[in-house]
Amino acid sequence: MNIHIIGGGNLGVALAVGFSQSEIEHKITVTRRNINLIAYLADQGIRLSRKNTDGIGMSDLVILCVKPFQALEVLREIAPFIGGKTLASAVTGLTIEEITNMVGEDVHVIRIMPNIAAQYGESATCVASSDYKGEHISGITELFEEVGTVIPIDEKLMDAATVLGACGTAFALRYIRASMQAGIEIGFDAHTALSIASQTAKGAAVMALHEQSHPEQLIDRVTTPQGCTIVGLNEMEHQGFSSSLIRGIRTSLQKIK
Ligand SMILES: NC(=O)c1ccc[n+]([C@@H]2O[C@H](COP(=O)([O-])OP(=O)(O)OC[C@H]3O[C@@H](n4cnc5c(N)ncnc54)[C@H](OP(=O)(O)O)[C@@H]3O)[C@@H](O)[C@H]2O)c1
Repeated sequence: MNIHIIGGGNLGVALAVGFSQSEIEHKITVTRRNINLIAYLADQGIRLSRKNTDGIGMSDLVILCVKPFQALEVLREIAPFIGGKTLASAVTGLTIEEITNMVGEDVHVIRIMPNIAAQYGESATCVASSDYKGEHISGITELFEEVGTVIPIDEKLMDAATVLGACGTAFALRYIRASMQAGIEIGFDAHTALSIASQTAKGAAVMALHEQSHPEQLIDRVTTPQGCTIVGLNEMEHQGFSSSLIRGIRTSLQKIK
């Protein structure tokens, strides 16, 4: 695919690197105003440009990765050049209808909500489209499966997907950071604590994904009656562990809305 990514920031770069490392070869362009900051991507075969419309006519897919307040200006700029193309927007809060109003009915607009783990092929990308049977959407699904898993959702759940799947990266990392800090307190150096905490979180996630069972069933396999795991877990719950996570997720959602 010829992929044109507008907005080479945190997400745009993660996607570009993820796609460039896929087994399938893609032609990738990334645009931003200050391309000096991402000059290193050129060594990975990624084309860089300051001009959003540069080469856009040759692209099969345009991915919009700018901040919400930057999006309207960019859409206005590219609208005359993307007729008949597919535009995948990762912009939080901007609806398919709003984008279509800006770029015209002949552009296939879909919304995507990937996360920055796309860089390592581990994104959980939610995709919303008004036409799930269309040819363009199956191509998008296959493409994003190269950088992780793809979950089709209703557009009305896009804000929720943003919180669970995109902000969720930060929430999970905060869990790892807290485990690391505790690991140092109980005897490990920082590097060792980080390795153990990260790999343990990854292992738990892999088990949950493979077995598709409720996390509590897996937790039962780790907890011995009157053992050290259950007392630790219960103390965390007394201190509001699950409750604080749920409240944080709800607060993030309220902020988007
Ligand atoms: N970060 C995440 O984990 C994540 C996950 C899912 C969705 N998202 C969504 O993805 C979007 C981007 O997020 P981000 O975290 O990647 O933001 P970011 O790091 O600020 O990246 C935005 C990029 O857009 C570029 N840009 C701004 N105005 C531009 C213009 N007129 N033309 C071309 N490029 C322009 C900026 O570079 P210059 O200033 O050099 O132009 C910047 O590199 C947001 O809407 C966010 O909600 C982010």
